[in-house]
Amino acid sequence: MQNSITERLQSALADLKAKQQYRQLPNLKHDGRHVISYGKALLNIASNDYLGLGGDTELQAEFLSKVGQLSTTHTPKMSATSSRLLTGNDIQLEALEEELQNWYHSAIEKQSLTDSKSVLALNSGYHANLGILPALTTLPVKTLILADKLVHASIIDGMRLSQSKLVTYCRYRHNDYEHLAKFIEQADETVERIIIVTESIFSMDGDRADLAQLVHLKSRDARIELYVDEAHAVGVLGDTGLGLAEETHTLADIDYLVGTFGKAFASIGAYIMCDEVVKQWLINAMRPLIFSTALPPINHAWTRFILAKMPTLADQRAHLAQLSTTLSQAIDPRHRVSLALEDIHYESPIVPYILGDNASTLAKAQQLQDAGFYALPIRPPTVPANTARIRLVMNAKLTNEDCERLIQQL
Ligand SMILES: Cc1ncc(COP(=O)(O)O)c(C=O)c1O
Repeated sequence: MQNSITERLQSALADLKAKQQYRQLPNLKHDGRHVISYGKALLNIASNDYLGLGGDTELQAEFLSKVGQLSTTHTPKMSATSSRLLTGNDIQLEALEEELQNWYHSAIEKQSLTDSKSVLALNSGYHANLGILPALTTLPVKTLILADKLVHASIIDGMRLSQSKLVTYCRYRHNDYEHLAKFIEQADETVERIIIVTESIFSMDGDRADLAQLVHLKSRDARIELYVDEAHAVGVLGDTGLGLAEETHTLADIDYLVGTFGKAFASIGAYIMCDEVVKQWLINAMRPLIFSTALPPINHAWTRFILAKMPTLADQRAHLAQLSTTLSQAIDPRHRVSLALEDIHYESPIVPYILGDNASTLAKAQQLQDAGFYALPIRPPTVPANTARIRLVMNAKLTNEDCERLIQQL
């Protein structure tokens, strides 16, 4: 029996290889802006380190020296050793939540809005999206979840785990709010609650949701709540780096604002900004929070260190926007997500270069790697069939010359 399972797995792996969808862990070392792949230094244009903080060794040295100056009793621990509900809660974690809350409220105040949100820190964006929807839908309330067709796998898994018989979910066409509105119109009166779920910047297409339009839709139906995953927008957009909701002045209208620290923050972890009662409910019902060891306090200390700098990184955000726009404009329409020829404006640092089939995508990635760029192919099932692509990602440590060199290779 054991053998036959192994043989079947081997045969399934061989099928993946035949379809050029076989995944392997790469052999990598990191050196500032470069990765060393099989002995060769390549400029990293594949990570989510949008502000380039992950490879900033001076910043890391500054943090370590700060930690080194603390007395041993105040040095952040290397492990939380249990869930937050047992002994894993810690002053670093509570301070992080308070500082995130202050970040939110100062952004709101700057925009002369009034709103109050509480913050719950979580172990990762994956944990967040996996746990929030199932926890929110445990009450006996007939609920319809409407999610963008391109939302991240973690959100899809969260919807799948929302197993109450009273919950249904549907996917609307990507950023197609007329399609979304049709689902809302068709929801019968017995539906008490409609949760619209979207990313603010889409991880593979790099385009933005129209949060103002979603807020407008919400204003027409009191049953609607908005869940926005800002994983790729935090640190990148907004005056103080809080994301697309900050940039579009929609912070106060979003019920569940999720962000992650594993990308522009160059750290690990996630948060949800929401009503205080919702926070208390999540503490009581969210399984990835209850049943997983909290992140090490040393990680939270690093996240706090980056958070303190986040509002001051406006120049880096502006440089990132300029690089990303230059790159997007240089991409031939045949290789863009949409064939629209109108002026390309800044969407995000994620610039997909679409090739369609796996073989040409692998060949293009190889060509870019031969030219000194660590560019990676993204294939189905991560992206829809026939949309295999190179996911080009800009970061604030790249120069205009780097960008020009890359453009010459496209
Ligand atoms: C939109 C989105 N949400 C959540 C996640 C998961 O975040 P994390 O890496 O912190 O688990 C990702 C990861 O790429 C993502 O793209």
